[in-house]
Formats: sequence, C-alpha cells, structure tokens
Amino acid sequence: MKHLLSMTDLTSDEIIEILDMAEDLKEKRVRGKVTDLLKNKSLAMIFEKSSTRTRVSFEVAMSDLGGHSIYLNSRDIQIGRGETVSDTAQVLSRYVAGITARVNSHKTVEDLAAHSQVPVINALSDLEHPCQILADFLTIREYKNSLKGLKFAWIGDGNNVCNSLILGCALVGMEIAVACPEGYEPNADIVAKGRELGGNINVTNDPQEAARDADVLYTDVWVSMGDEEERDKRLSDLADYQINSELVALSKHNVIVMHCLPAHRGEEISAEVMEGPHSVVFDQAENRLHAQKALILKLMA
Ligand code: CP
Ligand code: NVA
Repeated sequence: MKHLLSMTDLTSDEIIEILDMAEDLKEKRVRGKVTDLLKNKSLAMIFEKSSTRTRVSFEVAMSDLGGHSIYLNSRDIQIGRGETVSDTAQVLSRYVAGITARVNSHKTVEDLAAHSQVPVINALSDLEHPCQILADFLTIREYKNSLKGLKFAWIGDGNNVCNSLILGCALVGMEIAVACPEGYEPNADIVAKGRELGGNINVTNDPQEAARDADVLYTDVWVSMGDEEERDKRLSDLADYQINSELVALSKHNVIVMHCLPAHRGEEISAEVMEGPHSVVFDQAENRLHAQKALILKLMA
C-alpha cells in the first residue's frame, strides 16, 4: 500500500507512469469511453479548508471510474468535536478504499497515514500540494513534449505548491529557479531534499533572474489559506514579484504561464498575462481531473 503525502512518495518512474495513464484517461474521456475500474470503491475526502478544483476533480474522477466519493467537511465530522485523527483513520479504513485530506497542518496527513489501512492522499497541507504538481507536469508535457531539461521559474511566495514543485522538478530533471522576497523563501529542508535528489535549484530574491530564458513561469496566491491575518504585509512585501508582461518578455518566446488557481489578478499575476496567449491556466485546472484519476487508479484499484 502506498500513500501520497509528499512528492517524494513517488519515484520519477512512478510520476511518468501516472502522467502516461492520465494522458490515456484524458483521451478516453474525450472519446466518451467509460471505465469502471473503481466500481464499488469509495473515497473519503476530509476537507479542513476550502476547495473548488481539488474537491470537484476528485469527486468527478471517482464518479467517472464507477466509484463513489464522500465529502467530509472537518467541521461536520467528529474530528471537529475532538475525535482523534488516528481513530478517524482506523474507522474510515473499515469503510473506504482511500482517504484524501486537505489539512491545516501537514502532521494531520502524516497521522492519518500512520493509522490508516488504506492509501492516504494529501489534497493540500501547509507544507505540500503533490496532486497539483501531477496536473502541472501533465500540462507542461502537453505543451513542451517533455519535462527534462526545461527551465521552470517560480515567482512569488515560497509556499506549499512551491515546495512540491521543487521536489517534483528535482525528480523529473527540470531546473527550477525560485524568486521570493526575503522571508518568503521555500522550506529549507525541502530545498535541501531537492538538492539531495539531484535537483538544480536556484533560490533568489531577483524575479528577473528567475524569469530569464524560462520555459515555464509559475505563480500562486500571495495570501494562502491560513495566512489571511498577514494579508496587508504580504501584499506589500510581494508587490515586486508579480508575473506581468515585463517578466514574460524576459523568458523564452514560447514560455507557458501557469497558476494553480484561485488567481488574484493585479496581485501575483497581471490580468493581461492571465488572459494572454502564454497562459495555460485552465488546461492546467482541467488536468487536475485526469492526473488524479490516474493517481487514484494507481493507489486504489
Ligand atoms: N489549485 C487548487 O488546489 O485549487 P482548489 O483550492 O480550488 O482546490
Ligand atoms: N498556496 C495556496 C494554494 C491554493 C490551491 C493555499 O495554500 O491556499
């Protein structure tokens, strides 16, 4: 049995296998071919935080594969009244074939996995967002045909999505430059782990340096879920780290611009770039569905 808590729970071969499966499932869906490989299987989905893409793509993925999903808002289940994470994991394991969880603290997904008899999938924690990266890599492959050898540039807050991208890039052989203001750098242990995995990782405070000759420009919100109290400070500290047409002009002529969404036009990305010809953000959002379908088939089928 395998969990997906961190990008490093997958090998580079497993990432490629999931992307290949996702491509195949995407093509089948376009042709209207249905599969029922998860018939009679259920996925419990615990959410401590809001979600549009992750929740809907997991629910549709389960339904497309003939299975069933159960949305569990953490306020409505007994966890919200103090039942332990370990008891919850043991109970859910008796009913379902998989558990996905979006949590405030990464430790919660680790605790779930430690006590679960079924695969646990991190649907976003304060530390990582591995499901997002599978969809991102699927999208990059669609536009660039491969992953290896590309230059990836992250601009903005070195957050959970950035952490998983650093590890993912290291695994698949993509160079990554991360440009953040001082104090917003990605988790130091993650950067060290990425380098241990052979990653070419440059952490800088200079967005122009990161964007220069990039094949992919990527950003995410400046105020992540849980950071709301710091909103004003973050908006001011991150003001020079917007993906806009000046940064696009420094990157390769065929650069793709990515954002995991939700987006705040005029903050981390200009409206012009978000709606412009380089933006692939809605393909990226669609690919959450295909990538997660492949993931749950690999872990739960
Ligand atoms: N990108 C992403 O995870 O979106 P949601 O928060 O809407 O799930
Ligand atoms: N970094 C963002 C990602 C949202 C999908 C957050 O954690 O809120």
